Amino acid sequence: MNIKTDKDCDLKLIQSRRVAIIGYGNQGRAQALNLRDSGVGGIVVGSRGGTAAGELAAADGFSVLSFAGAVKLADVIVILLPDEVQGEVYKKHIAPNLQAGAALVFGHGFSIHFKLIEPAENLDVILAAPKGPGKTLRALYREGLGMPCVIGIHQDASGSARALALSYAAALGSGRSGILESSFREECETDLFSEQAILCGGLPALVKAGYEILVEAGYSPELAYIECLHEVKQIADLMWQGGLNFKNQAISNTAEFGGYLAGERLVDEKVRAEMKTILADIQSGRFAKTLMADHQKGFEKLKSRRAEDAAHEIEKSGLRVRNLMPWLQKKGD
Ligand SMILES: NC(=O)c1ccc[n+]([C@@H]2O[C@H](COP(=O)([O-])OP(=O)(O)OC[C@H]3O[C@@H](n4cnc5c(N)ncnc54)[C@H](OP(=O)(O)O)[C@@H]3O)[C@@H](O)[C@H]2O)c1
Repeated sequence: MNIKTDKDCDLKLIQSRRVAIIGYGNQGRAQALNLRDSGVGGIVVGSRGGTAAGELAAADGFSVLSFAGAVKLADVIVILLPDEVQGEVYKKHIAPNLQAGAALVFGHGFSIHFKLIEPAENLDVILAAPKGPGKTLRALYREGLGMPCVIGIHQDASGSARALALSYAAALGSGRSGILESSFREECETDLFSEQAILCGGLPALVKAGYEILVEAGYSPELAYIECLHEVKQIADLMWQGGLNFKNQAISNTAEFGGYLAGERLVDEKVRAEMKTILADIQSGRFAKTLMADHQKGFEKLKSRRAEDAAHEIEKSGLRVRNLMPWLQKKGD
């Protein structure tokens, strides 16, 4: 894989463009602030108006316009709306107002890879996907560090889309760690797979099942919470910092030995086969269709599953435990 750093990027390219940030949420705010601190002037923020995001952008000192107004003024349009609404906002407000030769930048490959947006051929279409939450992207930048970012090129109308993508990612601070040259397809499919099989699917399901089994067996809910959820961070931090072997050196032989035996029993051939089916559903576009169908129904399924999580017993035990450590709430700000 081609991995680039600041020395391979020309920051002046993005500094000489007029950037519109469309959607001022998790990523939009972090990216706008990092770009501005990297010397990108005249950033405008596009907002649907009358909502919290526009007010926050104005309070942060950006000029806030309608989606159409922001797009008309800019020649780099960064689309940082929720994936499921990008297609409709693009069709209504972005496409009719684009300058010829403008560049579109996406924070995730979803809309382009699954053809929810099909941009005109005279546009550069760039992926700049930081690999983590917006708050962390911003915090790392402020510490003088950077979050790895995946870039990709879907269309190169100008002949300089790659140089612009590198410049944009460097302005996010990612050239301080690594800018990984990939594609919309690879970023999109690997990102969805890791979210579903591990980070937001497999891991929370294991945590909930572990908690339920301990409580059903008569153990204290608070201790079950600490063992099954609270301690996830300590192990995740070790793996994040130094990988598997680093983690193994920091845990007891008992934990490591028991972990090997149980891990093999849990992630057996049946689970691997299911993980492959999850990947196949992502690759075929079946997952994207299911997501968009639920969005069309007002996110019926999403909202009902969210409510189930919120009502789960583990949330009540968690509140009692977290109240012992009020500093945890501050960390999430
Ligand atoms: N979450 C992350 O940190 C992260 C990490 C990597 C990549 N990404 C990618 O970055 C993109 C943005 O994700 P995000 O998590 O930053 O989005 P988000 O915070 O959920 O939403 C961004 C903004 O979109 C506006 N919005 C929501 N629904 C809208 C609608 N129906 N019409 C118009 N505007 C609407 C909201 O502002 P108002 O409601 O106040 O108007 C919100 O501030 C996605 O492509 C995502 O996959 C996100």
